[in-house]
Amino acid sequence: MEKIENCVIVIFGASGDLAKRKLLPSLFELYHKNLMPFKFAILGVGRSDYDDESFREKANINVKLFSKNKPVNQKSLRDFLKSIYYEEIDPNNAEAYEQLKKRITDLNEFVDAKGNYLYYLATPPNIYDVITTNLGAQGLNKHNDGEGWKRIVLEKPLCSDLNSARALNAQIHKFFNEDQVYRIDHFLGKEGLQNIIAFRIANAIFEPLWNRNYIQRVEITAAENIGIEDRGVYYDANGALRDMVATHLLPLMSVFAMELPSKFEASVIRNEKIKVFHSLVPILSENVSKQVVRGQYLEATMRGDKIVSYRKEKKVEKDSKTETYLAMKFFIDNWRWGGVPFHIRTGKRLPTKITEVAIHFKKSPHSLFTRDFPTRYNDNQLVFRIQPDDGIWFKFGMKMPSAGFNIKSVNVDFHYKDIGEVEFPEPFEQLLLDCIRGDAMLFTRADAMEACWAFVTPIIQAWKENPDIKLHGYLAGSWGPKEATALLEPGEEWRYLSKELVNGVDSTDL
Ligand code: BG6
Repeated sequence: MEKIENCVIVIFGASGDLAKRKLLPSLFELYHKNLMPFKFAILGVGRSDYDDESFREKANINVKLFSKNKPVNQKSLRDFLKSIYYEEIDPNNAEAYEQLKKRITDLNEFVDAKGNYLYYLATPPNIYDVITTNLGAQGLNKHNDGEGWKRIVLEKPLCSDLNSARALNAQIHKFFNEDQVYRIDHFLGKEGLQNIIAFRIANAIFEPLWNRNYIQRVEITAAENIGIEDRGVYYDANGALRDMVATHLLPLMSVFAMELPSKFEASVIRNEKIKVFHSLVPILSENVSKQVVRGQYLEATMRGDKIVSYRKEKKVEKDSKTETYLAMKFFIDNWRWGGVPFHIRTGKRLPTKITEVAIHFKKSPHSLFTRDFPTRYNDNQLVFRIQPDDGIWFKFGMKMPSAGFNIKSVNVDFHYKDIGEVEFPEPFEQLLLDCIRGDAMLFTRADAMEACWAFVTPIIQAWKENPDIKLHGYLAGSWGPKEATALLEPGEEWRYLSKELVNGVDSTDL
């Protein structure tokens, strides 16, 4: 690997949940694996009352608690903590940035960072504008002008619709060029997702099949058994369409659907992805109820635990119309995918946690064994399981030994865990390393972000303007509203991924 340049990493919102659970533990893992620069400083910034010492103590506890590889190596951790600092400032106060500049400049000299600064905005997005404006006012955005690089990392939620996406990009671009901006989508840091690109490139036999001639439909699932935990305020304002589809699942889909790049370079891959987004067939307002099914979980008992309905979750409006489940059907209007339905389903409080992309291939044109070959087994599937139990499996029909031609569906599977000692880095580890190295391949470019929001905004508007579009209740522990089946063709089913945990589905409309 190339030499990684020394740098100062400035984390805004350093006392928050993200820094505690993900950023500091991931930076530590990188350090422990010898992947951090030879010299670096991590400067936590925030309103909370810490100094270097007390922030290190907090980091010490959190790294031990949230590190993926436990127990952590004590010696490594002690050394890592020496590179952590804290500056208490109110990020809303413009004057405080002089103090911040001084601190960053001192650390820059101390670790010989040559002006290489990485800003991570782990704060609520409503202060992104203040932070970028003030960094700009202090000249802390000056990039590659003989004083090193300056990069800025933005965390979701980045925006809520197309207008806010455009406004955010315009604000950021006042002070940072697009090549300085790293928009994090932690799904893109998942190994299983990166493997889709690698699989396509490494296995030439599949590419001829990767199109409308052989593929019947593509099914993407991101199911979660957890609810909204303590994120009532955030989730109620966003819902599954914004939280998962716009932010993670459309970018994931683009990796699957793009043309293979001519070079393995960030700009080339990003150019291929944007072509997919630009080819999405818009879902018109009058088609929203036909192409999108939304749901919200109702009270039920899951594995012996009583689960409260979404509307009874803390900090959620009692008559909330926010969707905790969403299934949709859409098309990509290009030569490769014309006419192939893409189905996405995602939701909270479903029976299990699974993220996968499944290709359903076209059926045999002339099936001789239909009598013994039930329809649900009657397609070949190639499944990319992104989590858990990452792997790939291919499903095909095979004759069962015995007299007669009894065809059964069987799997050829590859599970990463079978390789043995393979370590799956936390997505943040990979993504932070990429920011430090300046590799933007796994980050969402401004145009892609806007294109995703351009696609989902008409759905948001249709729901807002048309209260008759149904919000279906589904029991926690079920696979969501049965109405989602209507998105498929007759005889098709959503992939069977696990048993429902509840009996009988209440399809009360909310
Ligand atoms: C986050 C969403 O971005 O992704 C959460 O805000 C969701 O609602 C999470 O639970 C899912 O990520 P993962 O990595 O657990 O699949």
